[in-house]
Amino acid sequence: MKVISTESSQILAARVAREAKCEIVDVRFSRFPDGELYLRTGTLDEEMVIIGSISDSDTLVQLLLLIDACEKSENQLVLPYMGYARQDKQFNPGEPLSARAIARALSAGVSGVMTVNIHDEGVLRHFGVPATNISLAGEIGQYLKGKDLLNPLILAPDEGAATFGRMVAETGGWDADHLCKTRISGEEVRMEPRSLKADSRDVVIVDDIISTGGTLATAAHLLFEQGARTIYAICVHGVLTGGAYTHLLSSGIREVVCSDTLERGCSRYSAAREIVARIGDAHT
Ligand code: R5P
Repeated sequence: MKVISTESSQILAARVAREAKCEIVDVRFSRFPDGELYLRTGTLDEEMVIIGSISDSDTLVQLLLLIDACEKSENQLVLPYMGYARQDKQFNPGEPLSARAIARALSAGVSGVMTVNIHDEGVLRHFGVPATNISLAGEIGQYLKGKDLLNPLILAPDEGAATFGRMVAETGGWDADHLCKTRISGEEVRMEPRSLKADSRDVVIVDDIISTGGTLATAAHLLFEQGARTIYAICVHGVLTGGAYTHLLSSGIREVVCSDTLERGCSRYSAAREIVARIGDAHT
């Protein structure tokens, strides 16, 4: 088995290769003068683990090209971050089911797919090959154990993230709760407390994605009003668009952390161990 990756997932791919004790394949990426993407790799003659996050159109096209270049191999695809997965329903007539479109396109040329904390596991059914999802709750728990947290409360910002929050909390035997969120617009959310006891505690807000940061900034505001001592924000996928990182820090959040499913300056823990463990499962 060898590991190969798109440009956007090089660091995670190198960690996966090191963890799995296998070779990483050299790929050169460039563009044609008209802007079209191009890549070139060597001879691929064994089972490949292809790793590539999708965060925009270029990363999607690069991944499609890489899968095509690997066509002679038996390929497992790892999608650390699957962009377009949040459009997983037709919310209005005439809309595409974007998650399905992406899943169908990626299924050609691979024999299995692994996602990481996909927004909704229902998306997995759109792949034309067996697809599984892994969770980084345990890795977040390990990261938090390295902090000196006072009476920690692990808090999910909405019901959708509540199970994930509880999984993180279980790793350290910490309390868990979630907020009730109503989305008012693309960037504005309203939150109401459920059964919070945030006063004088260190609160860790956990979510699958931080995109604009609107969800977590609103949650932090509410929690500071309730007397939270310190607030940390931890997610799996740091999309961090529109100045989200500085927006969150200026909301008083002490630390904003994400994994390396999207490689950022604040990527403080890695998906590599979980990915390798699950690839290992598939081989036993
Ligand atoms: C939504 O249900 C997701 O779990 C995240 O809460 C959401 O994507 C975060 O987006 P933003 O950072 O833009 O508020």
